[in-house]
Amino acid sequence: MSAVWLVTGAAGMLGRDVLARLADEDVTAVAADRKAVDVADPGSVRAAFEEHRPAVVVNCAAWTAVDDAETMEASALLVNGTGPEVLAAACREHGAVLLQVSTDYVFAGDAEKPYAEDDPTGPRSAYGRTKLAGERAVLGTLPDTGYVVRTAWLYGAGSGNFVRTMIRLEGVKDTLDVVDDQRGQPTWTVDLADRLVRLGQAALAGTAPAGVYHGTGGGETTWFGLTREIFRLLGADPERVRPTTSAAFARPAPRPAYGVLGHDRWSVAGIEPIRDWREALEAAFPALVAAERP
Ligand SMILES: NC(=O)c1ccc[n+]([C@@H]2O[C@H](COP(=O)([O-])OP(=O)(O)OC[C@H]3O[C@@H](n4cnc5c(N)ncnc54)[C@H](OP(=O)(O)O)[C@@H]3O)[C@@H](O)[C@H]2O)c1
Repeated sequence: MSAVWLVTGAAGMLGRDVLARLADEDVTAVAADRKAVDVADPGSVRAAFEEHRPAVVVNCAAWTAVDDAETMEASALLVNGTGPEVLAAACREHGAVLLQVSTDYVFAGDAEKPYAEDDPTGPRSAYGRTKLAGERAVLGTLPDTGYVVRTAWLYGAGSGNFVRTMIRLEGVKDTLDVVDDQRGQPTWTVDLADRLVRLGQAALAGTAPAGVYHGTGGGETTWFGLTREIFRLLGADPERVRPTTSAAFARPAPRPAYGVLGHDRWSVAGIEPIRDWREALEAAFPALVAAERP
């Protein structure tokens, strides 16, 4: 009998690509959207574990409205902190592996070199604090079978995101002002889904130590640099994209100025880090354009 993988938050941007990736494997994938499993509800999680008996849980469920979390931190904490805590307790009881997706927002974002997996955290936003609570719950409850995979700047074909928005705006705006003072790593959901699946397999095989991994694209850029690359791939003049500052786009939640993550830890699991962000964007591009300009 093939192992059961339970994907929570299955209707989200990442969840969909994790399920698509699992279709390539000899596993039984259970897609649990929010209606099927509310991660913050112990009764809902218990029922899913009793019905499916998962060997691996990939938690893609999250409160991702970063700005709203500033005024609704308790609600965000319920999904991002209590949710992983409830899942981790169920995984401990049933001997399952848990892969928890987290974020660069757990760091202060004021470093000058890529954050290592074990660097001190220091979130500056409510969203970051709630995601850190989720990390701690998973690592504390499952010291041997809990995995935290931090990602950032995610884009995929499945739902709206920065890259799709820029593809659309290129068609309707002469020029675009885009912030050039936040550094990060664009990450394709398909690449992250692949690493999550491989990490889960390695966890089951006993070849990946539990703990924190960084699942972001290689290299680094700014939102401005990313947008110029999008214009280049569209065959548009990149000079139409102009640099601006975060101050010009003030938002309720502070964004990390430097959210670049190091990828050293993958080597202990025998898995290579995600490819360079430019290469991934080029591979993803046809599907993104098709989704945005059908
Ligand atoms: N997007 C990014 O740039 C980014 C960056 C860093 C880290 N991440 C992390 O990556 C992961 C995946 O993000 P994503 O971009 O795929 O997010 P997403 O598209 O917003 O998907 C999140 C999913 O979680 C569901 N959900 C919310 N509350 C739930 C609950 N209580 N129980 C079960 N499901 C619930 C949502 O359902 P509803 O829509 O019905 O609420 C949604 O389908 C998250 O852990 C996120 O924190 C994302």
